[in-house]
Amino acid sequence: MFKLTRALFCAATLLTAGLAQAAEPIVIKFAHVVAENTPKGQGALLFKKLAEERLPGRVKVEVYPNSSLFGDGKEMEALLLGDVQMLAPSLAKFEQYTKQIQIYDLPFLFNDMAAVDRFQAAQGKALLTAMQGKGILGLAYWHNGLKQISANKALHVPGDARGLKFRVQASSVLEEQFKAIRANPRKMSFAEVYQGLQTGTVNGTENTWSNYESQKVNEVQKYFTESNHGLIDYMVITNSKFWDGLPPDIRGELEKIMAEVTVEVNKQAEALNQSAKQKIVDARTSEVIALNPQERGQWREAMKPVWKKFEGDIGADLIDAADKSNQP
Ligand code: LMR
Repeated sequence: MFKLTRALFCAATLLTAGLAQAAEPIVIKFAHVVAENTPKGQGALLFKKLAEERLPGRVKVEVYPNSSLFGDGKEMEALLLGDVQMLAPSLAKFEQYTKQIQIYDLPFLFNDMAAVDRFQAAQGKALLTAMQGKGILGLAYWHNGLKQISANKALHVPGDARGLKFRVQASSVLEEQFKAIRANPRKMSFAEVYQGLQTGTVNGTENTWSNYESQKVNEVQKYFTESNHGLIDYMVITNSKFWDGLPPDIRGELEKIMAEVTVEVNKQAEALNQSAKQKIVDARTSEVIALNPQERGQWREAMKPVWKKFEGDIGADLIDAADKSNQP
């Protein structure tokens, strides 16, 4: 009798322990480098909200904005080590993992975000899974928008930028882009941009309106040239092993949520950028310079030779497909 009671007690303990274990939510740490009032910041928060609403007690999403958990440089390594489960780096930050992705940094490649959408729905899709061999799985593309150039000098034509130092993301294409206009590129993490501009380590940079406004870059830059010359777009990524190891029903639900969030982020991004631009205009700290078609043509002509330099790495066919995506 005593033995039986003990056996039952042990079985009950094991069962409770098992249930307690099963009841622990899966924690997904989602780290990024920008502010919360940006397309990516909003997307990460919406993903958290929907995941926790639809998978209550099963999934917990912790969002770490503003490089508060990992910043540029360390975040991919952390993802591979399992210290963070989701990231959404700008597409400029993947060249170590896949050369083809450099396509997104080519200057004056996409005329607008509709062209980006067309390319990503077709040839761009394959790039989401191109890094699986290295343990990284792309879940979605999220938009920010087109880049503008900032400086402490009024830049109307490429010659105005000659000799200035520009902060760039960790991208060889972007380095070459600034070299093409005889300026000096300097790779720097996003978290260092404000200080770099304030102290004069760099004289200018390129980014979207939402990134400029949310980092208060207008406090340290007198001029913004509305060049729309390149793209800031993201790949939401996860650790392939982590993702494959999720219970299938949870993984399926998270994939559905990711698809919904992606539609929402990509719908809202342009409006967020336009309202950020308006805030900069209203702050009267800086001047926004519009380019006429002839001036914009000069920037395009000066920067476009960069395409040829990377044709070998990216592939002429892929560049051609992206170029054609400008035609609806
Ligand atoms: C940058 O480093 O300028 C951007 O990639 C930041 C971001 O994630 O939008």
